[in-house]
Amino acid sequence: MSTVSSETNTQDADRVRIFDTTLRDGEQSPGCSMNLEEKLQVAGVLEEMGVDIIEAGFPIASNGDFAAVQAVARMVKKSTVAGLARASRKDIDRAAEALKGAVRPRIHTFIATSPLHMKYKLQMEPDAVHQAVADSVSRARDLCDDVEWSCEDGTRSEHDFLCRCVETAIKAGARTINIPDTVGYTIPAEFHALISMLFERVPNIDKATVSVHCHNDLGLAVANSLAAIVAGARQVECTINGIGERAGNAAMEEIVMALRTRRDVLPYSTGVKTESFTKASRLLSAITGFSVQPNKAIVGANAFAHEAGIHQDGVLKHTGTYEIMTPESIGLRRSTLVMGKHSGRHAFRSKLAELGYADLSDNALQNAFQRFKDLADHKKDIYDEDILALVDDAVVRHNDHIRFVSLQVVCGSKGPQTAELELEVDGELKHAKVQGHGPVDATFAAIKEIFPHQISLQLYQVHAVTEGTDAQAEVTVRLEENGRTVNGQGADYDTLVASARAYVNALNKLLVKREKTAPAALSA
Ligand code: KIV
Ligand code: ZN
Repeated sequence: MSTVSSETNTQDADRVRIFDTTLRDGEQSPGCSMNLEEKLQVAGVLEEMGVDIIEAGFPIASNGDFAAVQAVARMVKKSTVAGLARASRKDIDRAAEALKGAVRPRIHTFIATSPLHMKYKLQMEPDAVHQAVADSVSRARDLCDDVEWSCEDGTRSEHDFLCRCVETAIKAGARTINIPDTVGYTIPAEFHALISMLFERVPNIDKATVSVHCHNDLGLAVANSLAAIVAGARQVECTINGIGERAGNAAMEEIVMALRTRRDVLPYSTGVKTESFTKASRLLSAITGFSVQPNKAIVGANAFAHEAGIHQDGVLKHTGTYEIMTPESIGLRRSTLVMGKHSGRHAFRSKLAELGYADLSDNALQNAFQRFKDLADHKKDIYDEDILALVDDAVVRHNDHIRFVSLQVVCGSKGPQTAELELEVDGELKHAKVQGHGPVDATFAAIKEIFPHQISLQLYQVHAVTEGTDAQAEVTVRLEENGRTVNGQGADYDTLVASARAYVNALNKLLVKREKTAPAALSA
């Protein structure tokens, strides 16, 4: 196999590289799976926003993962593209193969180093693990110039053994040494001490960039990442919206905005354009159907909302009284009244460009414009948020097998609640009229009648996109089938139509065949 080459961007001492793992660790978490096209959309936004390294997937995990890493590697030109591999020749060769088309490829190989993981998961003696570190990194370096090595469960590893493995990985050619807090166990002072210890004790540590990868089980992922940066780490691994296994990974927007806002005590820079955070967060949420909690830092709907009168008064007098960052710095525009029913396609397109959607496909634009016209017939004031909800819908839906066509519901206290539904299934129009226990139940039962399935509904959630009784409803539906969960979202001024759209969106995701054969050792 030929060697793939890469340059590593060495910058000034205080520059922190942002390694995004939304498409790998994030995508691995339940309900967050994305298809190839969606992964490309996310990768495009990550590159545009200046992320240094995009971890595109785990090529050995499935053919779908391989194809996604390959496609991202071919598309992305400015960011480094990484593929994950366990410490085995097969994994590493597969990752190198997937990365062949990349301008800046990186193989990221890992093995667990904690006593618990080595004994029970790997069933390997420490000496064998140490040998595997040398062998795997050397193999990866034979195939790629840029190799990152991770010690899974690093924060629960014995220090002497960890130092020995790190030194060996660097000797074998790893340029980046990543210390994961795989189970989100550490606390900031302890993690700072661990990173400092590695700088003190590993003789060749200056030959590599130290990276950290924190999970959020105790809600400390961002705090731990920042503590590690202070101790000398110059790469952080993170995800948009903090998605990831269990309680998630460190949220990129929180780390980067903490560095930007508190430069006085954290004098480090990143190359990320923070103004893209709102767009990236919305796109990911629309694709995965994983909504962001309203009070989430930086990108939550309430992050810049001031409800209490005393706060509103202060902000009106001087925004700095209660705002430590401006909404504009994360790409959030003060909500404006945008358009009405007389606005034409040209004005709509300009509005979309202003909101960061200059590159919608003709189909998606057409779909969104039609929905806008329809909404304008029913809702007097249309705000940026309304337009964004429509676009999110249009961006997500244009490749669906099942399409929503129309819904007529009879509801109210007299009953029986009945839903009359039309769906297009692979281009064929289908119709059902079904009674249910309430209008939502009847709507979902009608979907089941048209497209029979054994799938359980795990979550049904509605929220209003803007204020007022004519606000659009944004509905999230979570479906589960054989242990696989997906989230669907739908927006409409009619809550039941939004519900049907959300259910159909989730169903479409389940239909995307993803023969994931998760490797046994993948617990990260
Ligand atoms: O959490 C973890 O340990 C990981 C590694 C594979 C980096 O995701
Ligand atoms: Zn992880």
